[in-house]
Amino acid sequence: MNIIDIINKTKKSQELNEEEISWLVNGYTNGDIPDYQMSAWLMAVCLNGLTEKETFALTAAMRDSGEILHLDIPFTVDKHSTGGVGDKTSLIIGPIAAACGVCMAKMSGRGLGHTGGTIDKLESIEGYRTDLSLSEFEAILKKTGFSIISQSVEFCPADKKMYALRNATGTVDSIPLICASIMSKKLAMNADCLVLDVKYGTGAFMKTKEDAEKLAVLMEKAGKSAGKKCKAVVTDMNTPLGKNIGNALEVKEAVELLQGKSKGKLYDVCIELAADLLELAGKGTNAECRKMAEDAVSSGKALGVLRETIKLQGGNEKICDDTSLLPKPLLKYEIRATKGMKILGFNCEELGMTSLLLGAGRLNKTDKIDMSAGIVMNCDVGDQLAADDIIMTLYSTVCSDFSDAAVRALNAVKFEITEKPSYT
Ligand code: URA
Repeated sequence: MNIIDIINKTKKSQELNEEEISWLVNGYTNGDIPDYQMSAWLMAVCLNGLTEKETFALTAAMRDSGEILHLDIPFTVDKHSTGGVGDKTSLIIGPIAAACGVCMAKMSGRGLGHTGGTIDKLESIEGYRTDLSLSEFEAILKKTGFSIISQSVEFCPADKKMYALRNATGTVDSIPLICASIMSKKLAMNADCLVLDVKYGTGAFMKTKEDAEKLAVLMEKAGKSAGKKCKAVVTDMNTPLGKNIGNALEVKEAVELLQGKSKGKLYDVCIELAADLLELAGKGTNAECRKMAEDAVSSGKALGVLRETIKLQGGNEKICDDTSLLPKPLLKYEIRATKGMKILGFNCEELGMTSLLLGAGRLNKTDKIDMSAGIVMNCDVGDQLAADDIIMTLYSTVCSDFSDAAVRALNAVKFEITEKPSYT
């Protein structure tokens, strides 16, 4: 086998076999194939695509490039979202699944750029440890059925290297490559059932619903071809998921939802995803599973799971009863309407960047974040606002000058009148 033949085959849209793909991935991961030749192959994939068979072989080869998680738990489920703004669904769906008798074992990442990360959100809870050993992780899962920790072992080194190269060579936006990148990491987590939430819109990786649907179908097939029960759903990220964006603010909203205090788009998405997971886990029909998920919230059982897990991970579980114990921002800034205006939509990527400017996110992996910072949306798409009504409120402790964030926040609002709202 040689790399020139492999590049030429993909350039001519000739299908590679499993051995060739595995040889390519291993050769690149161990340094035998240099960046320039891998870049040429990745560009050929961007231009010509891969067949489904090739995509599944690439996914498996990337999964097998590192460790595969083997927990001492008979049956686990996992969910993955392709990344969004204000997405706190894991904090809600995990406790719901566990309350219904299905164990959710999840390893998550930190936020980078305009999207947040579940680990950062959880670390806004005083004392909460995400760096647990695998045996501590298993012990909590056995007690509560739900735990989220940060990744300690290196899974999928092939993806780490290939993703960095794709970022540097304009080869990120290829559906087969995105599928293999995400699914190799998810399959290395080795859960029995997997629900994938593929987002589209201004705050998402996939900008159009059509592309998100193509990616969702391919990811679901990749999961099934690897022997997992798998379902992919497509959800809208043209508006933030829920009202709060930012670490402690999102934990607060998740807790309030589990307290039964709020319904709406966030609740609907969480119930839908939880029902899909429960159905995959064999708990009943989708309608029965939806009812179970709703009951887990209304009975307070899911909140009970979250409370117990937070306690076992060293966090202050009292936040489940009193969210004012979460980090509080020292400063706030209201963006108000100057006159009557109709809200047509939001640019979620801009909202994510606003939140980052306020201190809630990071541009570089080593940046420190302000757990109290973020945005509360005070209106929704379709709302008619009168003069002086609040559009959104910006919060921060570290950012004393709100002017850059306010400009960015205003850019994120699409509205119907010609005059723009002013800052207060
Ligand atoms: N997220 C990933 O992990 N990989 C991609 O290729 C795109 C988004």
